[in-house]
Amino acid sequence: MPVEICRLYENPSLREIGGGLIRPGGLELTKKALAVSALKPGGRLLDIGCGTGAALRYLIDHCGFRAVGIDPSMLLLSEGRAKNPGLPLAGATGTLLPFADRSMDGVLAECSLSVMSDVEEALGECFRVLDSEGALLIHDVYARNPPGAAGLRELPFKSCLTGAVSKEQWIERFEGCGFNVIFWEDHSRALKEFAARLIFEHGRLETFWGCSTETPGLEQGARIQSALFSARPGYFLAVARKAGEPFSARSGR
Ligand SMILES: C[S@@+](CC[C@H](N)C(=O)[O-])C[C@H]1O[C@@H](n2cnc3c(N)ncnc32)[C@H](O)[C@@H]1O
Repeated sequence: MPVEICRLYENPSLREIGGGLIRPGGLELTKKALAVSALKPGGRLLDIGCGTGAALRYLIDHCGFRAVGIDPSMLLLSEGRAKNPGLPLAGATGTLLPFADRSMDGVLAECSLSVMSDVEEALGECFRVLDSEGALLIHDVYARNPPGAAGLRELPFKSCLTGAVSKEQWIERFEGCGFNVIFWEDHSRALKEFAARLIFEHGRLETFWGCSTETPGLEQGARIQSALFSARPGYFLAVARKAGEPFSARSGR
């Protein structure tokens, strides 16, 4: 099946705002997730949806992990390779990981799970490649007003915001795929700061959204902004560990 690429993340303005990263929270959130997970230097780490590999470089050069990153965007990967020749970046999707069962000590998904069309399938792949003591480190968007999230699915582009679900739904997803959530922390302030930087860059959020779709324009931007407002998007950091066989495997689903 062809992989749907999220063109939104190929917009260079997002990388400028994130200091090379394409999401809120910077490397501070990566550090916090690593500290909670207690993963040790030398461990095998997979960064799913790694973009240009800015966090991956940090994991290898500053933390001593044996890390590898995958992303389906050839544009982001080639930019990452040009910046950091030799960085282990591979073209792949989170729903079909090119790694053996139990070959990783940690899987990192920094604002990339909610972008995928089948999050459960991606979580199933995380479960498969993680060792039994392995940890899943996630930060992502969630809907702080879940009834408002339905409007996000109608938006004319795909992004982590359009895939936002409630905290309860996220936890249900993790548990349904065989994980125990050992840590959950709200980091919505980081999302607000990211939005503030977008406003600083584009004048207003409507302008940014308006130029991020196939049918650009301020009116479209205002529609997107209003849907976001109803869902009250927040940002979370979570760490989960393998608990047992995923629900789907247990029930034969
Ligand atoms: C919000 S960006 C985060 C990028 C990076 N993790 C970071 O911290 O800067 C989401 C990333 O997920 C990637 N992505 C989109 N669909 C994907 C999929 N099906 N599997 C894996 N990654 C995907 C995008 O290309 C993009 O690089």
